[in-house]
Amino acid sequence: LFRAAAVGPGRAVRHDRDMSPPHSPAGLSSAGYQPADDDESVRGNRTWWDESAGEYRAEHRRDLAGRLVWGPERLDEADAGLLGDVRGRTVLEVGAGAADCSAWLATQGARAVATDLSIGMLRELDDESADPRLPPPPPRIQCDGRGLPFADAVFDIAFSAYGAVPFIGDPGRLFAEVARVLRPGGRWVFSVTHPVRWAFPDDPGPAGLRVTRSYFDRTPYVETAEDGRVAYAEHHRTIGDRVRELNRAGFRLLDLVEPEWPERLDRSWGAWSPLRGRLIPGTAIFVCEK
Ligand SMILES: C[S@@+](CC[C@H](N)C(=O)[O-])C[C@H]1O[C@@H](n2cnc3c(N)ncnc32)[C@H](O)[C@@H]1O
Repeated sequence: LFRAAAVGPGRAVRHDRDMSPPHSPAGLSSAGYQPADDDESVRGNRTWWDESAGEYRAEHRRDLAGRLVWGPERLDEADAGLLGDVRGRTVLEVGAGAADCSAWLATQGARAVATDLSIGMLRELDDESADPRLPPPPPRIQCDGRGLPFADAVFDIAFSAYGAVPFIGDPGRLFAEVARVLRPGGRWVFSVTHPVRWAFPDDPGPAGLRVTRSYFDRTPYVETAEDGRVAYAEHHRTIGDRVRELNRAGFRLLDLVEPEWPERLDRSWGAWSPLRGRLIPGTAIFVCEK
């Protein structure tokens, strides 16, 4: 948990499980763990990310702009090389946000295309794209990761840094789409909150070190609006679930990277704090091959 969202008159709940800014959409009436289906999750998340785009950008720009980081541990692709050699490769980013990662890949010689459910998030790159020293901004396309508007087998590499995957109730649909647009032997790399974190409260302090939920409880974290609509949803899968979903979509898991909290990193990212980062994993990066 790392932000308090105002929920209904006079009530406050902790907004947890996400990479999101301290944003309190008007008319929120409840937040907690409850069922939410795939379509209503995606509908709610689209509006939520559109409304939160500016705030998210303002909060995280310092860590995201001009590079490809895989998560709050700030593991940088320039050091990790999880995508392999990108020069001359066609690369798809899913859940790209402001497309910082794709913009960085363009500087490395990749032909990157950034996609995101939220047009508000994609637009956040605009003001920064006027720098003549940088390559032109990558093409940005608004679409749901469950329905990618591309022909079969056109990308060499696909990736997502904390985008799309946890926001979809049926991630098998996303994985199948990614598999379809990747050429045989193509790479699919994505990062999410480490599944183990779902057992702990999202508190950067000592309270965040005590197990309060079952790791095996897959009930999503959901915020609802006053009219009962899902306003925001994040979905949990165990590590085993993820491996099976990936296998079903035709992927082979090559590596599961759990970045350690760097010794000298003293700035938290929401509930991802130095205290917790040194004791329990915060991010899981799945490296797969089609
Ligand atoms: C935590 S942000 C990460 C953005 C970017 N990767 C970054 O590191 O800043 C999550 C992103 O996933 C996007 N997203 C959520 N659901 C999605 C879906 N179904 N398809 C594509 N993108 C989605 C959101 O719009 C948001 O931009």
